[in-house]
Amino acid sequence: MNNNYAIGVFDSGMGGLTSVKELNELLPGEDIIYFGDTARIPYGSRSRETVLRYAREDVAFLLKHKIKMIIAACGTVSSVIGSEPLVDNMPFTGVLLPAAQAACAATKTGKIGVIGTPATIRSGSFGKAIKAIMPHAKVIGNACPLFVHLVENGYTARDCQITRLAAEEYLTPIKAEGVDTLILGCTHYPVIKDIIADIMGEGVKLISPGAEAAKYAQSCLMSADMLNEEGHVGKNTFYVSDSRELFEENAKHFLEHPVSGEVFSCNLGE
Ligand code: DGL
Repeated sequence: MNNNYAIGVFDSGMGGLTSVKELNELLPGEDIIYFGDTARIPYGSRSRETVLRYAREDVAFLLKHKIKMIIAACGTVSSVIGSEPLVDNMPFTGVLLPAAQAACAATKTGKIGVIGTPATIRSGSFGKAIKAIMPHAKVIGNACPLFVHLVENGYTARDCQITRLAAEEYLTPIKAEGVDTLILGCTHYPVIKDIIADIMGEGVKLISPGAEAAKYAQSCLMSADMLNEEGHVGKNTFYVSDSRELFEENAKHFLEHPVSGEVFSCNLGE
């Protein structure tokens, strides 16, 4: 494995691009190889066994490329695997531990909310990760199954009434518990963070796991002396299991700018 190998990032679809965006900002000299399983999204409504099988196939695809680290940028995959790495021959992180650490550092009251897909909330993994760091923390979780569909279909404007209504339904019970920190435990939720922030109120700190995982990757590669050579300009390469055109059209909602890098459509078996 060489320092000039890429960082491999995968997600059930396009949501992991929130991690890519952060990685590009933090580590402009690193190449990124991204796999988005756009043909099989959503993972969040599937069983633990299916999510694990998909995640292993995603990792096997990335391992066919020259990579030096893997980030599972998907909240659902990270929750289902818990603290188990999916590879043992290179650095690996999901979004779970970086987000739990950031939430524990941010909270003053020890009351932390977690929102995610049904599979994420069912796993209880965010709660376990938080309590391992802060045993007295109170963790309040709620699944928000409609959010992924609303974001995928472009209902993301701050004044969008459908998304606000869904957000009020999902967030009111968490707000009522008086949390001061909320983990946006799914890749899609940072895209509607303004709506979530409006409902939760000013005093509540929002944690974006994809961004925290990117920061974790940066410190991990720095401390292992695995950063690319100085002066190298990093490039992104994207692989998706469904249409390239659909990816390019929707990716800008997650990146907040058009896709920069080559995009390939692929079969996982290839
Ligand atoms: N990427 C998933 C997550 O972060 C959301 C979409 C899905 O359900 O696959 O949980």
